Amino acid sequence: GGVITLDPGYKNTGSCESAITFLDGEKGILRYRGYSIEELAEKADFLEVAYLLIFGELPTKDQNDKFHDDIKAQSLVDDDIRKIVDAFPKSAHPMGIISSLTSALTAFNPGSVNVDSEEDMYKSVVKIMGKLPVLVAWTLRKKQGLPLDYGDKNLGYVENVLKMMFKSPNEEYKQNQILVDALDKLLILHADHEQNCSTSTVRIVGSAHAGLFASLSAGISALWGPLHGGANQAVLEMLEAIKEDGGDTKKYMAKAKDKNDPFRLMGFGHRVYKNFDPRARIIKKAADEVLGDLGIEDPILDIAKGLEKEALEDQYFVDRKLYPNVDFYSGIIYRAMGIPTDMFTVMFALGRLPGWIAQWREMRLRKEPIGRPRQLYIGETERSFIPIYNR
Ligand code: CMC
Repeated sequence: GGVITLDPGYKNTGSCESAITFLDGEKGILRYRGYSIEELAEKADFLEVAYLLIFGELPTKDQNDKFHDDIKAQSLVDDDIRKIVDAFPKSAHPMGIISSLTSALTAFNPGSVNVDSEEDMYKSVVKIMGKLPVLVAWTLRKKQGLPLDYGDKNLGYVENVLKMMFKSPNEEYKQNQILVDALDKLLILHADHEQNCSTSTVRIVGSAHAGLFASLSAGISALWGPLHGGANQAVLEMLEAIKEDGGDTKKYMAKAKDKNDPFRLMGFGHRVYKNFDPRARIIKKAADEVLGDLGIEDPILDIAKGLEKEALEDQYFVDRKLYPNVDFYSGIIYRAMGIPTDMFTVMFALGRLPGWIAQWREMRLRKEPIGRPRQLYIGETERSFIPIYNR
């Protein structure tokens, strides 16, 4: 019983207590398990951060090695999944493929996880950490007509992701440390963001005691949306359109402010950050560094910087506290790395995976009840049925 409070979009509704990620939108603070995002992006690697998010503490060297080995041991994907990959038409969006394949994994890993068993929980964690990069790499290779392949047991997690994605069949693969470092940083920056749309989706699907893979598949679908993770693809398409249009940023600024035009400045604004997005700062700097290190001059970076400057000085954006978010510059780095635009959100999903797992695990360990919001009914009051011949 009780009074129902209406809060569309859950702008002021807390759905849970959580000990994973701290976010202060006014001050632009983001911490994973107490560690600042700035420090983690600079000093940690993605696998350490994944362990930290999921299990609560940074791993010791032994724990880290074991985590890595266990993930590697679980990185084989059933050959029937390959057939599913092959069955997708070329036109399929990679996010649709990845969410389907994640769901398809349930067929080869039947039965539910026993959440009361640490061992069972751990096993399902390393399984998906091992298999998702393979699915991501296969999705890309299939699109590019390259043979599907597994990675290299001796490589680090992120190194292996890159090799699985880019190894060419006829050439010896050479690792590029600039790309490894850049991807490591991007994945860390995307690894968790408390109760965002996809994470809330994972928690709510999981709250019905659906399995981990099914919950993750739902989260991937939520992330696909252009208001959420899909923004990274949308940003790049917007920047390209502006370039094609002769670099006319003013025109797009006007469109973004026009309330009769559905266009929004993609990569701008955030539900929680009302000052700046700390991830955007790190990514902007990384974009400059990575492009510099790779010797790439991309006119799109200049357009992005010009657009940012104009928006930050514009009354509309100032009044609404709209700042560049994590997705504004990430696509420019992915593009410099040779990752196709429609794979950007898939890279986000790979980064967000440990966050989703950590949140699902926390939700199950805390034995949270099924998620079930209420509503205020605004439809017809009671009326009588009229047979079809009388309507
Ligand atoms: N361009 C133009 N106007 C905007 C934008 C934008 N990008 N974002 C918000 N506004 C306006 C909006 O029209 C509204 O104006 P008014 O008060 O006059 O009606 C005001 O700012 C508040 O916006 P809102 O839609 O009520 O805010 P929200 O918290 O519901 O939405 C958001 C947050 C991120 C969905 C939104 O800012 C947006 O659509 N941004 C563009 C998409 C994007 O970059 N998404 C990535 C988010 S960060 C990473 C992630 O989640 O993946």
